[in-house]
Amino acid sequence: MNKAKRAAVIAGNWKMNKTPAETTALINDLKPLVADAACGVICCVPFTDIPAAVDAAKGSNIKIGAQNCHWAESGAFTGEIAASWLKELGVEYCVLGHSERRQYFGETDETVNSRTKAALAAGLKPIICVGELKEERLADKTHEVLDVQVKGAFADIAAAELANIIIAYEPVWAIGTGLTATDDQADEACGYIRSLIAGLYGQDAADAMTIQYGGSMNAGNAEALLAKENVDGGLIGGASLSAEKFQPIVAAASK
Ligand code: 13P
Repeated sequence: MNKAKRAAVIAGNWKMNKTPAETTALINDLKPLVADAACGVICCVPFTDIPAAVDAAKGSNIKIGAQNCHWAESGAFTGEIAASWLKELGVEYCVLGHSERRQYFGETDETVNSRTKAALAAGLKPIICVGELKEERLADKTHEVLDVQVKGAFADIAAAELANIIIAYEPVWAIGTGLTATDDQADEACGYIRSLIAGLYGQDAADAMTIQYGGSMNAGNAEALLAKENVDGGLIGGASLSAEKFQPIVAAASK
């Protein structure tokens, strides 16, 4: 982290977990534990949990995010959710391009870009996920993959929007596997992403961009990862599902 240059943000990605009642309970458990956080705290919850999450988080420092949004404002897109409706419910952030959506639901760099534009137009702050597969890392293709994903996601995104965007570097081989990227691997990849943003928008914009690491981040490894210059926070899956596991990560980012 380099808090002199940019905001540190810890976001939980709950994925497809928690009922509305469980959401209320978890946010209520979390609120007192993170009330003094010196970093951003976000919970990205399933669509159906949004009203419960927004209600429980009211008056606290916890911000609520969604996990996807559609690029159209409305129309014949059965099962989809428009960005403006999320905004109307009190959602502030939206995870886009998560590797699980790329892997299981046909997400492409082009659709990530379309969703990013729709989210920004609706006043949501996108958390754009990028990251390489294991075979791509082993074949030394990490930079190539990040290059395509970052340039794809940011196509035609105006520089003025950058302050409203977070990038999450999530190496796919580290998600839910217990395998964490080493501190140096995370720093190097986040630094490379920063250099791509510098190439697109200039060094000042790149220096101000919050770039999170995600992939088996937990209470045990958060502090070392966050000590790295280019790791500005975390996108947390499994360890965001209980207040006891999430709180130490927020505490590590608050140092
Ligand atoms: P885990 O923390 O469970 O590895 O998940 C990371 C992730 O995919 C967050 O978006």
